[in-house]
Amino acid sequence: DTDISIKDKATFKVGAAVKTSYLKNDADYKDALIANFSQLTAEFEMKMESIWASENNYNWDAVDYLVDFAQDNNMEVHGHTLVWYRSFPSWFKNQNNDSIAFEAKVKTYITDVVGRYKGKIKSWDVVNEVFEDGGGMRNDDVIAPLFNDPIGFYGRCFQYARDVDPDAKLFYNDYSVVIDSGKRNAIKDMVTRFQEKGYPIDGIGAQFHYGKSTNMGTIIEGFNDLSSIGLLMHISELDIKMNTNKSDLFVFSNAIAQEQSDIYKEIVSMYNSLPESQKFAISTWGVTDNYSWLLTEWHPKEYPLLLDSNYNKKKAYQGFILGL
Ligand code: XIL
Repeated sequence: DTDISIKDKATFKVGAAVKTSYLKNDADYKDALIANFSQLTAEFEMKMESIWASENNYNWDAVDYLVDFAQDNNMEVHGHTLVWYRSFPSWFKNQNNDSIAFEAKVKTYITDVVGRYKGKIKSWDVVNEVFEDGGGMRNDDVIAPLFNDPIGFYGRCFQYARDVDPDAKLFYNDYSVVIDSGKRNAIKDMVTRFQEKGYPIDGIGAQFHYGKSTNMGTIIEGFNDLSSIGLLMHISELDIKMNTNKSDLFVFSNAIAQEQSDIYKEIVSMYNSLPESQKFAISTWGVTDNYSWLLTEWHPKEYPLLLDSNYNKKKAYQGFILGL
């Protein structure tokens, strides 16, 4: 049945990353979002650099808009992301705070943001991308120089979020986690440490920016390994590249569309075989191929999502349905 919607068939939320500018200016985008998705994530507008305009000023407009839009259209909101080394505003970095002042300000930020949307934003990526490939602690230029024990700082960030909204589901989010066993072990160790110390964590977000060359057996093995710790699992940023060697001559043929559909089907089917209690959401990183971040960050001839640039359902969409 080609009329069935992924959001209606799935027993978990089906999400998409969105930007308010598209929602306001493109009615087809808005309609496609409402018709196919039951959850939304802000692609950019809930990041620290977007919200935290200056020490005593927050830019809530886009966040309010998205939260109201979701409520009006019966969608859930996944908050992304409170603490990410890449998204600290420059005014804050330029203050050169010591670790005590830095953490106090981050605590205020978390408390204000999570508090404002308490009961409306039901889940948060509290911390994003803190491990290097292979599982070492990321040597970023914001957190690493300040904290001898960054994991302790991250644990306290989860606690600050929990304290202000005890009902919000709290996630750690990262990329490559199902294909990089070192990173996966680092995440498992972090979760164990949180549990020993009493810091809250409800789930793991696995980003899933993969492509046709990513080995499906490796993905499934890694996903099962990570889900074995029993937390909620979120496929948080799904998109599938097919123009993996960035060719200017690439054509998204029917055969390639079918290959992509099979990949979507296998990933959804893998997710769907989780115990019900660990299911949370699969979220694609965008609504339409037309506005995918990969067009600028990867290659302009890329077609990674479920809807084409005219908002028609791709073979990948049918693959998603078949995986359910
Ligand atoms: C990307 C967005 O897609 C871009 O529009 C933005 O400019 C930069 O961030 N991992 C994440 C996401 O956790 O927040 C990133 O999103 C993609 C990689």
